[in-house]
Amino acid sequence: MKAALISLGSVSSQWTADAMKKHFESVDTLNLNRIEVSIGKEIEILYVGKPLPSYDCIYAKGSFRYAAILTAITSIWYKNAYMPLKPRSFDIGHDKFLTQIALNQRKVPMPTTYIFPSLEAARKILEKVNYPIIMKFPQGTQGRGVMFADSYASASSILDALASLKQPFLIQEYIDTQGTDIRAIVVGERVVAAMKRTAVKGEERANIHAGGSGKPAQLDTYTKNIAVEAAKAAGAEICGVDILESNKGPLVIEVNISPGLQGITATTKIDVASEIAKYLAARTSDIKESGRKSGTSRILDDLGIEKTATSQAEKQIIMNLDFRAERILLPKVVTGITRFAEKDDIIIRAEKGKLTVEKA
Ligand SMILES: Nc1ncnc2c1ncn2[C@@H]1O[C@H](COP(=O)(O)OP(=O)(O)O)[C@@H](O)[C@H]1O
Ligand SMILES: [Mg+2]
Repeated sequence: MKAALISLGSVSSQWTADAMKKHFESVDTLNLNRIEVSIGKEIEILYVGKPLPSYDCIYAKGSFRYAAILTAITSIWYKNAYMPLKPRSFDIGHDKFLTQIALNQRKVPMPTTYIFPSLEAARKILEKVNYPIIMKFPQGTQGRGVMFADSYASASSILDALASLKQPFLIQEYIDTQGTDIRAIVVGERVVAAMKRTAVKGEERANIHAGGSGKPAQLDTYTKNIAVEAAKAAGAEICGVDILESNKGPLVIEVNISPGLQGITATTKIDVASEIAKYLAARTSDIKESGRKSGTSRILDDLGIEKTATSQAEKQIIMNLDFRAERILLPKVVTGITRFAEKDDIIIRAEKGKLTVEKA
């Protein structure tokens, strides 16, 4: 199996590439800055001016400034190689507006967030919210784009400053966690490592880069599930999920598709790079073995429905039920998988928490 890691060459990426070398026959480390995509009649991806060979696995990642090229690379190669980050993940993960929308659509709990069309509309929101609040840039990183306002007066002066900088921002309910947050690293269906970060005294932002310190954290099953769901909402099989532990339960504030590994590895003593490498190899070999994807799983993918195939014949779909006037409406893809037709005689077995529908 051949793999490529496309990145900006950070220490975390270096660790990941080294770990991948233990599981793949070859691992090419490619610098994102040297990639060129030309889209015309033909689509071409060049590396230092030359076409790239084919790979079984491509792990492409980078900072928000590279969202466009990462989306291009993954969209073009998605059909030919296994990639842990779906094309849409770069837009979603690099933009907090889109993250909050994607989380909401997948029913992942998060703080109430306000998005508005104009500064006047933002001011109206500031007049009606409870204080304190958080104002943040959609593309802030490492705590630098997060502002705290404890009153309308301070929020209003931040608003004026942001207006003069012509910076887009969002307004968010402040969650009092005594300056702590949880960073969970999701790899596939699992949280492989988690830490609780505490802000330095007088700070609200718990990011390690803002001076915060970390301690290993044991998450309960519910919080782990929320982290995995957040990752799925963003279309990222590998990511860091930032969670605030509120009295209403865990709330997700960020999905980081290029999480730093140094802090979490030092804090938890878990070899996160190795977990990522093992996962990439297992997924790549699964996909290679099962060959091209079947029609059904393509439909599931296109619908954005996650599935875990329990056997070749049986497909498992994890979703929320759609109720119409107290009747359960199942998605079209279920019709496709079951091949039920209107005239079929069926047996319905229902009990509390379980439903089976079978052809008679
Ligand atoms: N709504 C909020 N309530 C309380 N604290 C917050 C809130 N949003 C962010 N923070 C604090 O600020 C830190 C950085 O916020 P985050 O949204 O993760 O942005 P980024 O890490 O990209 O700068 C968080 O880790 C948390 O400590
Ligand atoms: Mg964060």
